[in-house]
This record gives sequence, structure tokens and C-alpha cells, in this order.
Amino acid sequence: MSKPKVFVTRIIPDAGLRLVQAHCDVDLWTDELPPPREALLAHVAGVDGLLCLLTDRIDGEVMDAAGPGLKVISNHAVGFDNIDVPAATARGIPLGNTPGILTDATADFAFALLLAAARRVVEGERFVRAGKWRTWGPSLLLGPDVHGSTLGLIGFGRIGQEVARRAAGFAMRVLYHDTSQPAPPPDLNATPVALETLLRESDFVSLHVPLTPQTRRLINRETLALMKPTAVLVNTARGPVVDPDALYEALRDRRIFAAALDVTDPEPIPMDSPLLTLDNCLIVPHIASASVATRDKMARMAAENLLAGLAGERLPHCVNPEVYTRPGIEASAGFSG
Ligand code: DGY
Repeated sequence: MSKPKVFVTRIIPDAGLRLVQAHCDVDLWTDELPPPREALLAHVAGVDGLLCLLTDRIDGEVMDAAGPGLKVISNHAVGFDNIDVPAATARGIPLGNTPGILTDATADFAFALLLAAARRVVEGERFVRAGKWRTWGPSLLLGPDVHGSTLGLIGFGRIGQEVARRAAGFAMRVLYHDTSQPAPPPDLNATPVALETLLRESDFVSLHVPLTPQTRRLINRETLALMKPTAVLVNTARGPVVDPDALYEALRDRRIFAAALDVTDPEPIPMDSPLLTLDNCLIVPHIASASVATRDKMARMAAENLLAGLAGERLPHCVNPEVYTRPGIEASAGFSG
């Protein structure tokens, strides 16, 4: 029997790729950069399955270019704002993602960014390499204390809660804003508050929300204006949650102390972005989940979702389980990617 045809839009870790290659006829995009739109449309034609990355925009056009044989889309990410979910659901295509396994790595990294921005680790390193370290200085590269400060978590799902657990080790007071989590888990000392209260009272504001129409530009001129001038903003969620122009002005005018961004809008950040001119803006290339073990687990989970869909089985991690109960529903209701 012939193997199912799949398009894999980038080289993923062996833990997942080998699994896919063992069971499928694989068209693998080997370039370092994502397939351009035309290539994506051409390579999906006639496939049974698609394993894609958060850098691929998968909408109804891509699904239609694949044709009626497309049985499954598996995203190598927990976030799925790059995919038109209603379009997949309307076509009866299950969509898989990789929840749970990148929680700890991302929470670790959010904390790394928080510490680095507060205590000016990257600025200090640049200072040394630039030959500017001439003596110990009483006022050299001062920043706010992390221990004993107030941490505000916007979004209190798996990752937000893990950041709160790490904050306990730094004796931080933890506030959170998440209307879907009216009370914290019993083992967590965290207080639910209104967004405005969180922004006004927090020394550190860390974002842990998915990108949706409600969270797009949640951090804007108005919300930044509520933050303390000593506050630090950390974003390991999605770039478009923050208005980059408003953030630039707030950092430039020292209306907040610093920002640390794992994600930007757009990605990659253009080299002429004014944010790159600021010493108090730390930017890294979307690497919060980039631990060896985590990326192996993501690749394996993405492969398992793909193979389940190809076999006509329920995906172990399905974003749109309604495809199993409501076949052939209404047309696409919009795309937020
Ligand atoms: C995800 O999986 O959504 C992350 O952003 C990748 O690190």
C-alpha cells in the first residue's frame, strides 16, 4: 500500500521527523527560511497531510490548494494564530498543536528575560565588550530589584501559572489578570485583579495570552501609560499583543524602565525598527521554547498528531475537536494570523 503524502514545511528535530519519514512519503522543505507563498501553494497540492510551523500562514487558500484529500494539519507550535481555524473546521480538517510540553521552558525563559532586563545583563555585557569597563562604579548600570517586587501576569494559563511558581522563589507578590481563571490553583499565592490594577501596581508585567482579536494591541499607549516608570514589560506571548510604536515611545521617554521581547510584530523585527536603537529594550528571536528537550517533544507531538490524522484517528491534541461531531459546518469566520 502506498504511503500518505505529506508536506513538512521545515526541518524539525529528528525525534519527530524520523517518525513522519517512517510512515509517509515526505516532501521536506529544507531551506532555512519558510516556503514563500507560491511554493507553499504548489507543494501542498495533492497532499494528505501538512506539518507546518508558526511562520507559515495557513488559510482557506492553502487548504483548497491541497485539495479534498487533505486529512490533517499539524502545527509545530502550541500557538495557532497562523492558521485559519474556522476554515479548517468548515472543511472538516482537524488541526493539531503542541500544548503543555513547552510550558516550563517558556516560563524559565520569561523569568530569564525579566531578570536580564531588570539587572541589565545584556547591556552590561555589551558595555564590557565595547571596552567601557574602567572601574567599579557606585551608580553603574543600576536597575530595579526583582526579589520582593510585584509581578503582574496578563494571562494565567499553563505558562502564566508556571511563571508565578518561579516568582515564589524570589518572594514576589503575584497579581494576575485572566477572566477565565477567577481563582488561582490552591498551591499558588496569586491574586486576580482588574487589568488596570495590575498595570498600576506591578513592577514587572509579563504577557501570557494567546493572540486573538481581543488581545491584539492590548499593550498600547493607554495601557502603557498606566504602568510605573520603574516597570519592566516582558513579552513571550505573541508580538502583535504589543503596539511597537507605543512601546518605543514609552521606552524612549523613560515612561517605563525597560522591555524584554522574545516576540515582535513583525517577525523578524526589521533592522530599521526604532526599538533596536534603545538600550532599555532587550530583543531575542522567538526562542522561549528553544531547549533541546522541549523542541524534541514538540517535534514528536506534531508528528503524532499528523500520523493520527492520516490514520483517520482522533488527534491526541486537537484545536478544533468539533470536526469530529459537526461535519461540514459554515464557511470561514475570519483569520487572525
Ligand atoms: C509556540 O509554540 O506557540 C511558541 O511560540 C513557539 O516557541
